Amino acid sequence: MKATSGLQQGLRVGDVLHCKSPCARRVRRKVCRVQAIAAPVREETGSVPNATQFTQDLIAEEKKYVMQTYARPELVFTHGEGARLYDAHGKEYLDFAAGIAVNALGHSDPRWLEAVVEQAGTLAHTSNLFHSVPQVRLAKRLVEQSFADKVFYANSGTEANEAAIKFSRKHARLAAGVDPYDAKAEAPHEMVSFTGSFHGRTLGALALTYKDAYKIPFAPGVPGARMVKYLDLDAAAAVIQKGKTAAVFVEPIQGEGGIFPANREFLQGLRDLCDEAGALLVFDEVQCGLGRTGKLFGYQNFDVEPDILTLAKPLAGGLPIGAVLVKQHVADSMKPGDHGSTFAGNPLVTRAAETVVDIISEPAFLQSVIDKGERLRSGLAEALKGNEHVKEIRGLGLITGIQLDQPAGGVVTAARDEGLIVITAGAGDVVRLVPPLNITNDDVDLCISILSSVLNSLQNQNQTV
Ligand SMILES: Cc1ncc(COP(=O)(O)O)c(C=O)c1O
Repeated sequence: MKATSGLQQGLRVGDVLHCKSPCARRVRRKVCRVQAIAAPVREETGSVPNATQFTQDLIAEEKKYVMQTYARPELVFTHGEGARLYDAHGKEYLDFAAGIAVNALGHSDPRWLEAVVEQAGTLAHTSNLFHSVPQVRLAKRLVEQSFADKVFYANSGTEANEAAIKFSRKHARLAAGVDPYDAKAEAPHEMVSFTGSFHGRTLGALALTYKDAYKIPFAPGVPGARMVKYLDLDAAAAVIQKGKTAAVFVEPIQGEGGIFPANREFLQGLRDLCDEAGALLVFDEVQCGLGRTGKLFGYQNFDVEPDILTLAKPLAGGLPIGAVLVKQHVADSMKPGDHGSTFAGNPLVTRAAETVVDIISEPAFLQSVIDKGERLRSGLAEALKGNEHVKEIRGLGLITGIQLDQPAGGVVTAARDEGLIVITAGAGDVVRLVPPLNITNDDVDLCISILSSVLNSLQNQNQTV
């Protein structure tokens, strides 16, 4: 397939500019300048001139100037469109990682692009010192479609969880009847989380995250974190206690942990334990929220409501955002000055998010996520029947894990060579599939075909050896 981007075709941005408003005219002038800058980078084929040299030089410069905290393959994506990514050579990839469950509408979705370009040309940022229109409109949409009464904005998943920790601790202080600003006051402050969990990399969220390797180099961590075995209600009951516990954090479907859905009994049990202990129940839906499971929110699969729910990844379709949805009793415990962020919920990201939420929350769209998820898992199960390296295929909607009996890194690399981007999860032994939610049936079938060929050749190699 010929790799041309929206910018090269002048289509996407041009679509925006059919509007005759003064605002659209302003945007048109700005966009033409952007086109002039972006166009020479790629040739008509979609490749960068001298792509091998370009790739090597870029990676060398990155090593020189960017801190090396990520292990990356020798691959530079230069553009994307829909569920396709293109590297500097113009090679096309089917994207079943979606920027780690972020690009819910794929790359350069025209409706998202229109909203972003128009908002960027109108008002991108004002800080939270002032009111802004898209921020309110987005919050209204989230509240009206969920358990929540209020929204707080953040910039990422970890920040959303960080906010949830702070809300829970202040809520616990008020519930204990102490002056929350008294440095000597004591109140329940423990936060419970579960084995296999991932809640983020900032110190508070990190304390709730399972993997020790993420935490130990940065010790001492935030005190008061208690880790309990996932899906073990008895273990949870022993730890969630009145006078001690401020909040319980749980992912309704563990993502990084290996795509492990919870169940209604467990989540309802946690709900009851929290109610008895006067603790808040926090659902981390940073990865599984917003249509990923085929419901707008993951908790709707289990019919159990939290006090707080955190969102991030897909919310603004690729722009950085986090959101904390809370019940009124949580909102009431915070007052101006208690928490804040310079960038959070700025007009640009919230306008993008409005578009994403509007598209995703359509019942037909959500049903299509369920249907495509079932097509993916049943197709994989059929194609991988008898493959002894595949232990389980599990998931909900368009979050799927293929549990292997060995590290999945080789499969990820082989799939990439065949033009399919997938990532790992769990102990590195799960192939994680989190495609754009608007993936087509044909692309689901293509993924099944590439992955089964890669996994079945792994099986054949081992049989030959
Ligand atoms: C469930 C969950 N919570 C929190 C986070 C942290 O989000 P971020 O990387 O945006 O800080 C992630 C990231 O993968 C996640 O999957």
